[in-house]
Amino acid sequence: MSTAQSQSSGERIYDPVAGRVRGFGTTVFAEFTALANAVGAVNLGQGFPNFAAPDFVKDAACAAIAADLNQYARSAGHPRLVQALAQVYSPLFDRPLDPLREIVVTVGATEGIFAAVQALVDPGDEVILIEPFYDSYPAAVTMAGGAPVYVPLRAPAGSRHAGDWTLDLAELTAAITPRTKLLIINTPSNPLGKVYTRAELEAIAAIVHRHNLTVLSDEVYEWMVYPPAEHVRIATLPGMWERTVTLGSAGKTFSVTGWKIGWAIAPPTLAHAILMAHQWIPFAVSTPMQEAVAVALEESDARGYFSWLSRMYRAKRDHLLVVLDDVGLTPMTPDGSYFIIVDTAALDAPVAPGERRDIAICRWLTKEIGVAAIPPSPFYSEPHQYLTDNLARFTFCKTDKMLEEAARRLKKIKTR
Ligand SMILES: Cc1ncc(COP(=O)(O)O)c(C=O)c1O
Repeated sequence: MSTAQSQSSGERIYDPVAGRVRGFGTTVFAEFTALANAVGAVNLGQGFPNFAAPDFVKDAACAAIAADLNQYARSAGHPRLVQALAQVYSPLFDRPLDPLREIVVTVGATEGIFAAVQALVDPGDEVILIEPFYDSYPAAVTMAGGAPVYVPLRAPAGSRHAGDWTLDLAELTAAITPRTKLLIINTPSNPLGKVYTRAELEAIAAIVHRHNLTVLSDEVYEWMVYPPAEHVRIATLPGMWERTVTLGSAGKTFSVTGWKIGWAIAPPTLAHAILMAHQWIPFAVSTPMQEAVAVALEESDARGYFSWLSRMYRAKRDHLLVVLDDVGLTPMTPDGSYFIIVDTAALDAPVAPGERRDIAICRWLTKEIGVAAIPPSPFYSEPHQYLTDNLARFTFCKTDKMLEEAARRLKKIKTR
């Protein structure tokens, strides 16, 4: 099985002493946000925008509340929202999407991940997770009784670009067994900001076909792609529509992560399976928030909103790249998302015996420099966590004022 690692699925036992289900503890985001608050650090760790949502989006929400849209929504999604999603995505998928049979609205993409995995994974099935992965994937797979199988992206030493991190196709193929059911891909990716190229996706699609797999494509950062990079939807590659579930998020798209509105787009059989899981998870999603997202989507094109979003984030990315580089936190330029992974090898901060270096460095940055970053080891399976020893993740989805304050504090790294 080369270096890919499989994890058994027998972890779903409530531990009354720890007060939690074994294997699912506090997340690194909760821990570092609490630490950042406690020491008054500028939090460039957790990826939520701290700036106002666009007025046209907020106005739509106020109008939806005023219109008394207060009752349960249609389980698969508020009709106006699925209609608006079909309108926006049909040209992008190069096919007329059926709003009533090919779209399921979820409680953020997080529920989309969970419902899709519940729908598609049976106990004992294996699911390929590409490292670094978004941390809810292994939890969703394990809770479905499946077994995550990990395949890391690998970068040449001294890499300065997220695009240099690539999937070894031989390693991917070796990780596939007769039990493999699903492959989860994330483009643009969190935490790396890698945008898979068409050629990379075609190569993955060929393997998916050969082994008759289904793909869950998490594309929540689809509008945060920085030219010349181009967002390619794997579902649009030949023969892939039939075997792909694509996820999106209003939280990321409209800077309203607390609204928790997401969607799954898939052929009718897969969408129906997701709906059958979804109806027993939240049953339905907030009606007025769905109405607001519908109106926001309807207006986005005419307002040039999506290209504005990408330009706005690109300027923030470029600013933070210069700041990080200047203080010796060697950044790997992301082509998408609002995260930057840096190489911290040049930092000589203290690491206690037995402590993971990436966690120690991020604690030190938070406490001593006053800027919180996220250690990337939780985005890896345990056997591969050593790959993140010299890495930290910063986010730039923050106001320019906050990024400037972070820049001022980060300069301390040079002068200490
Ligand atoms: C890769 C990825 N997928 C899904 C999500 C969750 O999206 P949502 O906020 O819509 O639940 C996130 C949020 O950080 C993410 O980074």
